[in-house]
Amino acid sequence: MGNQAKFSAGGNDHEFPILSGSVGPDVVDIRKLYAQTGMFTYDPGFTSTASCESALTYIDGDEGVLLHRGYSIEQLSEESSFMEVSYLLLNGELPGKAELEDFSRTITRHTMLHEQLATFYRGFRRDAHPMAIMCGVVGALSAFYHDSTDISDPVHRKISSHRLIAKMPTIAAMAYKYSVGQPFVYPDNSLSYTGNFLRMTFGVPAEKYEVNPVVEQALDRIFILHADHEQNASTSTVRLAGSSGANPFACIAAGIACLWGPAHGGANEAALNMLKEIGTPDKIPHYIDRAKDKNDPFRLMGFGHRVYKNYDPRATVMQKTVREVLTALKVNDPIFEVALQLEDMALNDPYFIEKKLFPNVDFYSGIILSAIGFPTTMFTVLFALARTVGWVAQWNEMISDPGQKIGRPRQLYTGPTARDYIPLDKR
Ligand code: SDX
Repeated sequence: MGNQAKFSAGGNDHEFPILSGSVGPDVVDIRKLYAQTGMFTYDPGFTSTASCESALTYIDGDEGVLLHRGYSIEQLSEESSFMEVSYLLLNGELPGKAELEDFSRTITRHTMLHEQLATFYRGFRRDAHPMAIMCGVVGALSAFYHDSTDISDPVHRKISSHRLIAKMPTIAAMAYKYSVGQPFVYPDNSLSYTGNFLRMTFGVPAEKYEVNPVVEQALDRIFILHADHEQNASTSTVRLAGSSGANPFACIAAGIACLWGPAHGGANEAALNMLKEIGTPDKIPHYIDRAKDKNDPFRLMGFGHRVYKNYDPRATVMQKTVREVLTALKVNDPIFEVALQLEDMALNDPYFIEKKLFPNVDFYSGIILSAIGFPTTMFTVLFALARTVGWVAQWNEMISDPGQKIGRPRQLYTGPTARDYIPLDKR
């Protein structure tokens, strides 16, 4: 008998198997706990709960390690491309030259949207938040691509996966164009995935758009940094939605909705707004005091993480990229200085040291995106664009898992026990 976890309750002893992965914490398999003990576990926020088995992404929060299919985020962000990392996440291995060319070509040829969807955009107010538009349009995709929503068919799953990865840049760019009142720009198949997105976002029919290679490479690296991240809130949302058999477009729309929250993907927009509100380095101590004040709901946006208790390796790569982009674009953004000094002061403050609060992926990203020309309302849209490949890969992994079943947690009930109805004239 392998390792067993012993558990005593109500005068009875129980044993549950301990399972080991290839790396990281072991898990106690409690699938039979309720049947054997009549008790549930209690773990709101799932701080100690493994919801699934996965081979996609491994995070070591204490060591600041992030691996995608075993490759470190430092090496992938330096050596690879978002298309190649997308292939790796979906297929498990780095592609050969021919495989990468074939995958990129397939994605390129799915970048156009059904023309009727352009009309869908016109139902929104021009000042709608682009995330509201993205939620709506992605959910509506299942009304257009129902020829690939049979989730039991691996061919359908593959086509839907490619369509989602390919169309998110087009959907994101159209949301931006609609918000600024400019015409939609169609995809250009001669450009790279990221170059095509830049042209659809910033190009106009009135003149030729030249992709800036520095910006293209920086944005492609940012997409790599956001591609997947284990069982975060939005990925868990996609998995839970998918566990009921919902079509992939509806599942990704659910993930987008969850990502929008300021505690999650919405933090990049909130972090830049916070840095702008601080404005100058002399105001930093006041905001650090507010973040430490239990009676003040203010938190340092872009700081802290459920898993990383040392540093977020993506933030380290992001800070380096900020320097490269600002230098290349000759942008002298005083907000970057505020961010650097805020990080330095927070990391030397006992409160942040004790609570292991470090900059996360969202702390610096807004500075680069702002320098490239994106409004803050587009920051989480870009996060969703990049995270789509992670969501899709996690969804495919779940659907292909023979042990997969509908996710249905239980609860600790603290409401009223059974009581009789009181007629209105007796109350
Ligand atoms: C992302 O899960 C993922 O992987 C997410 C993500 C991904 O790639 O998918 O990495 C992307 O969502 C990054 C996180 C972006 N969010 C923010 O930057 C928002 C600010 N951060 C916090 O809201 C918070 O740190 C969370 C939500 C990120 C993590 O919260 P936890 O793990 O639930 O921790 P907690 O809220 O219990 O905080 C622990 C303590 C608390 O103090 P005490 O109650 O113990 O006294 O630290 C404090 C918190 O008050 N704290 C902060 C803080 N974050 C936590 N205090 C000030 N500023 C902060 N940012």
